[in-house]
Amino acid sequence: MKNKTVYLNGQYVPLDEAKVSVLDRGFLFGDGIYEVIPAYSGHLFRLPEHLQRLENSLAGIRLDNPHSREQWQNIMAPLLDANHDQYIYLQITRGAAVKRDHAFPDNTQPTVFVMCSDIVPFEGRSTGIKAISIDDSRWELCHIKATALLANILLRQQAVEQDCAEAVLVKDGYVTEGAASNIFAVIDGILITPPKSNEILPGITRDVILEIAEQNHIPYAEEIISLDALKTASEIWLTSSTREILPVVELDNNRVSDGKPGPAWQRMNQLFQAYKQSIVSAHKASPPI
Ligand code: PDD
Repeated sequence: MKNKTVYLNGQYVPLDEAKVSVLDRGFLFGDGIYEVIPAYSGHLFRLPEHLQRLENSLAGIRLDNPHSREQWQNIMAPLLDANHDQYIYLQITRGAAVKRDHAFPDNTQPTVFVMCSDIVPFEGRSTGIKAISIDDSRWELCHIKATALLANILLRQQAVEQDCAEAVLVKDGYVTEGAASNIFAVIDGILITPPKSNEILPGITRDVILEIAEQNHIPYAEEIISLDALKTASEIWLTSSTREILPVVELDNNRVSDGKPGPAWQRMNQLFQAYKQSIVSAHKASPPI
């Protein structure tokens, strides 16, 4: 692996020198939260929204935010490269205590880790992907972006082993989201996504898509979607910061419409790319001081 520079607890160090204690609660318990923030041409996309979600996740696990928004921005800035599309991975754990104990330790310093990687456009973004539906076996606090991702990992792996790129998760007959993405469906000409709740991660890409739909008079609704209804959808999309908007062309071995990315996806993808471009152009016109 390229020995890039990463940030760990106040220092910038080569990746292979970044070390944490085996007593770190992130390692022992998955006791931490994270964020994934895309950066286009060195500009952090929707930074205030990502930092707000970070604050919400920290509050959700009762961990104080170790930095102000300005400090976070200053920590991330040196890791960015204006010549690439990248994403920041940022993780905060409850730190290393002297003893392994489930209950919160006293006076422990959180561990803060930040790294930056190139976004490699996801194979299948323009041709579409296959997905399977699986029972959502996760916990009841899915709105927290927790590093404890074992259920998500097992679900995604099940999909991959069936030659699919993503698992569509189903709780009590209703679709929640993907293993690492939010879900949209076009049903009877309306773009639908499940409402925010403790059962899904409030995706930043999801919000951008809803804003674009609103601005362009694309009919949309935040409503629950049954798996039966999803199977009648003319289009299904999965969205995330690193994969953007992925059209699903096959669900549970059945083609979605004609098995090709649909017209609503074509339009939304164009609008999304144009929006990204406009943000980057505005950033280049007036770069931060
Ligand atoms: N995951 N739902 C889940 C469970 C996710 O893990 C993600 C993103 C999303 C989409 O959120 P956003 O649009 O803000 O990226 C929804 C990231 C990319 C990850 O874990 O790597």
